[in-house]
Amino acid sequence: MSQDSRHETNAAPTQASDVRTVDDLLTEGRLVLRASRFRHDDRFDVEPREAAYLLAHVLAVREVQVRAFGEREVDGERAAHYLDLVRRRASGEPAAYLVGHREFYGREFRVDPRVLIPRPETEHLIEAVLALDLPVGSAILDVGTGSGCIAATLALETSARIVATDLSLDALEVARCNARRLGAKVHFLRTDLLSGLCLDTLDLVVSNPPYVSPEALPTLSPEVTEHEPHLALFAPKDGTQVVERLLGVARTMRTGSWMVLEIGHDQGSWLERRIEGLEHLTLARLILDYGGRPRTAVLQVT
Ligand SMILES: C[S@@+](CC[C@H](N)C(=O)[O-])C[C@H]1O[C@@H](n2cnc3c(N)ncnc32)[C@H](O)[C@@H]1O
Repeated sequence: MSQDSRHETNAAPTQASDVRTVDDLLTEGRLVLRASRFRHDDRFDVEPREAAYLLAHVLAVREVQVRAFGEREVDGERAAHYLDLVRRRASGEPAAYLVGHREFYGREFRVDPRVLIPRPETEHLIEAVLALDLPVGSAILDVGTGSGCIAATLALETSARIVATDLSLDALEVARCNARRLGAKVHFLRTDLLSGLCLDTLDLVVSNPPYVSPEALPTLSPEVTEHEPHLALFAPKDGTQVVERLLGVARTMRTGSWMVLEIGHDQGSWLERRIEGLEHLTLARLILDYGGRPRTAVLQVT
């Protein structure tokens, strides 16, 4: 064997090992995720199986295709991008921010750290509003719209006119982009809750307001507290201040109109007691989340 051919023979395996297949990347990604220090923290949800989710995102295919074509080679640029996402996930960044979207009520919403990641329990708000079967052309206001998931969904699922507010200009930018992409007609406004709006023309106010007590911060997952906007999460007075303000504002809404609110998992009894003391509101329904806790309050202005 000549010097040259020995050199060629030696070089070949090095080049081959640089080319990584889908299976190689899945194995490497799973190892990194398995080694994440957050795997041993109950508050986290970092799972080795997310490797396939992240790789599917980078390859712009469905997860099932990733699993089916393990032998396919992945070019260096995409492999590096994927491994960077895996490392960020292993250090606690939410998967939805890494891939840039989250599904809500069957539609994809763009998300980034300017907005709260839509949660499955918030879909109960949509179901509660749809169950009210409001007349055609009703007026709905979504307070604290964030990614716009509630406002855009209601615009597409009902014939109502939708207005949505947020205090955060950043959030409104994301919400506008989502509504435009989905073809949802929503009028967005920057204001403090519903300040400056004419409430007696509204048929319904819907809101998933900030309701977490600031004192609960140390008990929450750093995945949430280090990445999601605190304006979206926390409210003073044990998390009740924004809900309290909304209950107060209902005083100026039309008799017979509705307010549908998401509340914290431990705020059901507080809300029931609070409503008992109010003459202008009745609690029509308190809907349980998937874990059996009261999370969606359907209130009617009396
Ligand atoms: C829990 S997030 C809900 C986001 C979105 N509606 C959802 O369900 O995913 C609460 C939202 O309320 C907004 N917010 C907080 N305080 C507000 C205020 N005083 N006026 C208007 N919006 C407010 C936050 O910026 C955030 O977007």
